[in-house]
Amino acid sequence: MLDNRKQGYTIPGAGIYPFQWKWDSGFIALGYSHFDLQKAMIEMETLFDAQWDNGFVPHIIFHSVAERENYFPNADFYHSSLSANANLNYETTTLTQPPVEGWIIERIYRIGGHLPEIQEFVKKLFPKVMAQHEYLYENRDPLHEGLVYIQHNWESGTDNSPVWDEIWRSFKVPEYNFSRKDTQVVKEEQRPVKREYDYYLYLIDLFKKWRYNDALIAETSPFLVQDPLFNSMLVASNKSLIRLGKKFGFSQDVERLEIWNRKSVSAFNEKLFDKDAGMYRHFDLRGGKWLDGLTSSGFAPLFAGIPSRQQMEKMLSALERFSKDGRYYPIPSFDPEDNSFEPQRYWRGPVWVNMNWLIIEGLKSYGESIWARRIKEGTLQMVREQGFFEYFEPEKKKSRKQGFGYGGQQFSWTAALIIDLLNNRL
Ligand code: GLC
Repeated sequence: MLDNRKQGYTIPGAGIYPFQWKWDSGFIALGYSHFDLQKAMIEMETLFDAQWDNGFVPHIIFHSVAERENYFPNADFYHSSLSANANLNYETTTLTQPPVEGWIIERIYRIGGHLPEIQEFVKKLFPKVMAQHEYLYENRDPLHEGLVYIQHNWESGTDNSPVWDEIWRSFKVPEYNFSRKDTQVVKEEQRPVKREYDYYLYLIDLFKKWRYNDALIAETSPFLVQDPLFNSMLVASNKSLIRLGKKFGFSQDVERLEIWNRKSVSAFNEKLFDKDAGMYRHFDLRGGKWLDGLTSSGFAPLFAGIPSRQQMEKMLSALERFSKDGRYYPIPSFDPEDNSFEPQRYWRGPVWVNMNWLIIEGLKSYGESIWARRIKEGTLQMVREQGFFEYFEPEKKKSRKQGFGYGGQQFSWTAALIIDLLNNRL
């Protein structure tokens, strides 16, 4: 993680991700908070320096001009200044990522809250995180349900999940001609296929035509999804902001947060919980129905305290099913019984440390320490055997025999969250 640190920010992994990523920075700051609070604060402050006028926080901040040629799509492709709200000091993308910042800041506060500089940090960042929530509730919730939508698969954090396949099949896009940079550093079979990239790029081209106007996107774009992971991070952050806001005297904000949050939690359980599967699903706002396929994002509501005890107990059976009764490392990113499961390909099957971490913390908050420990031990073992990879082979037998860590190596959030897990009483 320290090797990946640049001036004021930390890249997710050398070679493959050479800039600052939004939710990566959150996890990374949490890792730093255990041994260097200064670095934790700086990581978050740099991220919020790139916030837009309307509260939006972009998902990549292209700090380094020297890296421009090593990444695609880069700032030239996004052309963020087409938006009236863009940050003029930083080149950024025009998409966002899960809003983890509220609860990250609360965790930093829990560790360093006795220090005046941490109190100042919370006071300074609170209104910025609040502005992000305001942006989301006001612009990404056209039906005023309390559930916000993502407008692009990259906003989910789970880029090439099979859950999007159905949407890709619903419209046609041209073939783009470009040179892939990712497959120069990571094996092709571990990355999204080229044809999917055409869809990813086409959506951004559409948004450019509409000058990144959210209202037009909500009316017209073929991709509009209420994602259980994204919304769980929002709910968890609402709750953290409510607690921090009470301590620091942001009482008007606390009132608004409480109203938003009540609505979010009840809509979440009414609309996204699938009783038969025993877990939460993605809702396609354009198609007016759940998307096919179960993903590890469907367990994220545990982290935000959304399921009732009864729902949580059903989720334990789904966890058991995902881990194939112990033959797989918990928790594969996609349902291993589904035909679209691919154990090496990024978000189509491999195990990710950040998802495990969220589920562990969630289970812990419900007092489910047996399951929480089981996932924690599995996660530590995987990283011990393979190293600090980006994602991992789920099948234990295969992994042990051949050593299967996938994607980027020396990956920052894997390191950050292992630090946290090792400090975690369980
Ligand atoms: C990939 C992941 C995303 C992450 C980024 C940088 O795009 O899907 O979640 O933030 O890499 O690590």
